[in-house]
Amino acid sequence: MLKEMKINAAKEALSYVEDGMKLGLGTGSTVDEFLILLSEEIKNGLNICGVVTSEKTKNLSNKLSIPLTTLEKVNKLDLTIDGADEIDNDLSLIKGGGGALLREKIIAFSSNELLIIADESKLVDKLGDFKLPVEVSPYEHDVTSLRIMDKLNKIGYKGSISLRKDNQNIFITDGGNYIYDLSIGLISEPNIVENILNLIPGVFENGLFINLTKKVIIGNKEGVRIITK
Ligand code: 5RP
Repeated sequence: MLKEMKINAAKEALSYVEDGMKLGLGTGSTVDEFLILLSEEIKNGLNICGVVTSEKTKNLSNKLSIPLTTLEKVNKLDLTIDGADEIDNDLSLIKGGGGALLREKIIAFSSNELLIIADESKLVDKLGDFKLPVEVSPYEHDVTSLRIMDKLNKIGYKGSISLRKDNQNIFITDGGNYIYDLSIGLISEPNIVENILNLIPGVFENGLFINLTKKVIIGNKEGVRIITK
């Protein structure tokens, strides 16, 4: 059922793609559905080029013969299509469930428009049920994790922090970094949390995406619902 919802969202996103566009290609199972549909359009003559946010998306794009380029070559992207782990009423997001948050944020910032595609399970009133991913340098990462909790405690957030694992091994991002997942309850002021996290030495990026998207396509059983800001 979730897969069907993701496909519905992905199909709708395709209608926003125009010939000649430079596209940011996000990461995750919903984006994978989009890539499959996009590759069909390319076979039918659509001319686009994409910049990927992860090795996983790069591998699938190559398999599907989607032409890729780099941000350095194109400078600005017309449109980025990406997924999300949580979406609140304000269209603030938690991303990074797939571990690609740093590259996803770089691409989102380099795009004229960030279009989010997701199934309806991702909609929430307030962010924070989903653990907030924070990408950190492996160097002295324990100290960074203590500092993260200390700073958040000082502004009233309590909870736990855990180093992301991939089976028994530490999860390593495409950039060679670690991820800490934060359970700090509902996040009432995402912008404050974001600013505090990104000022901590050793923190590269966090999974809060605030004021970056104005449009979300939610796939459901019937089709799609489009939420705009
Ligand atoms: C990866 C992400 C994904 O966009 C997010 O995890 C959603 O994935 P899915 O479409 O599989 O639910 O942020 O870092």
